[in-house]
Amino acid sequence: MSRRPFLAGNWKMNKLVGEAVDLVKGIVDGVKGIIDKDILVCPPFTALSEVSKIVKGTNVNLGAQNCSYKDSGAYTGEISPSMLLDLGCSYVILGHSERRTYFGETNEIINEKAKLAISKGLKIVYCVGEVLEERKNNQTFDVIKKQLDQVLYNLDLNSVIIAYEPVWAIGTGLTASPEQAEEVHSFIRKTVSNIVKDAGKNFDVNDLVILYGGSVKSSSIKGLMECEDVDGGLIGGASLKAEEFLNIINNAK
Ligand code: 13P
Repeated sequence: MSRRPFLAGNWKMNKLVGEAVDLVKGIVDGVKGIIDKDILVCPPFTALSEVSKIVKGTNVNLGAQNCSYKDSGAYTGEISPSMLLDLGCSYVILGHSERRTYFGETNEIINEKAKLAISKGLKIVYCVGEVLEERKNNQTFDVIKKQLDQVLYNLDLNSVIIAYEPVWAIGTGLTASPEQAEEVHSFIRKTVSNIVKDAGKNFDVNDLVILYGGSVKSSSIKGLMECEDVDGGLIGGASLKAEEFLNIINNAK
């Protein structure tokens, strides 16, 4: 088993270039010497180039928040996996609930993006999660199983990180309890194990990194990470201030 704490900041549509540079400088300074955790920042596209220069050669990895399912050509407004690699990205977030909700992304579209991104050499942070109504109706496991089954079946799982982000916990201040998170995280590991078996894949599901996302703070990360199947966090709002993000990283054991 080779899992170690993984802390990722999803900056969403925040930070102008100068602000992004200030933030990432604070993070890079604060994580110097940390060698037992994986650290990832995902700025908006417009800041990737400048942030890339600052993280180069450090222990901070760079990711984007989305990519196209095409790698070049007449697709106005799109950004391809090769363009992200060219800027120094090694990760891309896919399937975030905000993209599913506001931009109509389906499991099928996300699978296309994931296939291309991985084939070009990116790792993906694939987000899954239920909305509040689905949780209330006891549909959480069904929704997540579908999100996993329909996207992962033909992917190289060595290039996949899963982020469980209950939609009701994103940006609401409501964090899932460690028990609620662990229940879903262990379900995710079991479901991926079945996908591996069904598809005859050669992958040890104990190596799968599963992050929790949704109102994570420096005060909640420790309890979440005490759960066996919670390997880290995908952090939105609290990753926009270097001090709080660093506290989260330091409290993640
Ligand atoms: P918040 O941490 O702001 O709730 O956002 C979580 C998230 O959506 C990360 O991708």
